[in-house]
Amino acid sequence: MLDRASKTLPPTVPPPERPLSILQTIRASRRNVLEIIPALAYRQPMVSGRLGARWHMVQDPGALRRIFLENVANFPKAEVMIRMLRPAVGNSLFTSDGESWRWQRRTVAPVFAQRNVVALAPLMTVTAERAAQRLSASGREVEMVGQMLSATFDVICEVALSGREHFDADAYADAIMRYFETAGKASLLDFLQMPDWMPRPGALLGRGAVRTMHAMVSRAIEARRRAGSGGVDDLLDHMLKAQDPETGRRMTPTDLLHNMQFFIVAGHETTALALAWSLMLLAMHPDAQDRAREEARAALGVAAAGAGHLESMPYVRQVIEEAMRLYPPVGLLARNTRERDILAGREVRPKDVIFLPIYALHRHEMWWDRPNEFNPENFSPAAIDGRDRFLYLPFGAGPRVCVGANFAMMQAQIILATLIARFHFEPGTRRAPVPTMSMTVRPDNGVWLKCKGI
Ligand code: HEM
Repeated sequence: MLDRASKTLPPTVPPPERPLSILQTIRASRRNVLEIIPALAYRQPMVSGRLGARWHMVQDPGALRRIFLENVANFPKAEVMIRMLRPAVGNSLFTSDGESWRWQRRTVAPVFAQRNVVALAPLMTVTAERAAQRLSASGREVEMVGQMLSATFDVICEVALSGREHFDADAYADAIMRYFETAGKASLLDFLQMPDWMPRPGALLGRGAVRTMHAMVSRAIEARRRAGSGGVDDLLDHMLKAQDPETGRRMTPTDLLHNMQFFIVAGHETTALALAWSLMLLAMHPDAQDRAREEARAALGVAAAGAGHLESMPYVRQVIEEAMRLYPPVGLLARNTRERDILAGREVRPKDVIFLPIYALHRHEMWWDRPNEFNPENFSPAAIDGRDRFLYLPFGAGPRVCVGANFAMMQAQIILATLIARFHFEPGTRRAPVPTMSMTVRPDNGVWLKCKGI
């Protein structure tokens, strides 16, 4: 008989016992990248094999510290990942390396400084209020990924471009989806490390989607350039004014286009997933939901949440952090190796591919107590105190840590607190979704919840 804990165990992917062959890997990675992570990766600090190139999966916090921080120049982002993203976001902050990355990071980091993010919070509050209103109007059983994508897309349109007048939100969302389903999938040629000039079928199909997205973002940037900021204080305005503090260099229109395009896609999809998984987990765990609701209602009353409320809602934050432990929106990263090094006592050589399976790290038997259960207490101050920082990496770490982490956490807390204060969520009648990764970790059939106003 199932005990109480196993009945409410959040859904996961059954891992293959042993590493897959090259053909199995290609098939699995087109279906669900999480399926390529073998069971051993949840039990051992490092797993290695050969698929054309030698590869390693690293789950050891000391080795992760070396890759992300201590010897970061030796482990550049894997070409496979960059190649998938480059058609859409060029040489943006995310996809560049070396000096091209360094000056962009120096220029963009101040735009996302905490005080600038706090200044954007009122726009997040307005969009949280709109999300709550859409939800109450939408009937009983609701698909929450779609709802959360609308909410976070609304935020990014407001804060990145001050509104939607240059944006057909539906056409843009549709183009993102087409891109993820085509160019966003690793192709056979990528795995076999074929040269860049060979056309990838997915990339060809994704071109139309990229053109649509670029045209919309360019129009918004151009309109702002012509009109001037007129007192608008949003992300685009900060980016137009941004300057490298060391050289004074500014972004060209192409740099701006690629970076804004990345912010729009990265900034809303990942956060929406963190929110949808949080709501699913709260629906499965009524005690945690009640506790989060009591906290949110005590802080907010009937208002929508703002930056000033967040300090008095620590449990809401813990819920989001725990949801991103079980379902990290970026579930797997990849790096190449430049020179020989030792990771977790094992030699890695030039050209070896290093996988960083954040999903397995966060559910690892050696590092987490009851790793597959939902327990927001994993992020209580006492639990965090003394835990190795490299055991929990939803935003990466080191110099290439997510530049939008503050922004993402703030919008997630504002939206979740506002919704949980006003609605009760229960599991819907459909089966619980399976986490499925192509670029991000999505619920395969959406998150269907019964949603009742309070
Ligand atoms: C829950 C939401 C988010 C998650 C889970 C997330 C996750 C990540 C991760 C794991 C990385 C590191 C990738 C690597 O090391 O290979 C990253 C980098 C980055 N993220 Fe995020 N992200 C989120 C939201 C955002 C938002 C809202 C923005 C901007 C509006 C953003 C912009 C970036 C950029 C520009 C980088 C590249 C930084 C660099 O290489 O210097 N992200 N993100």
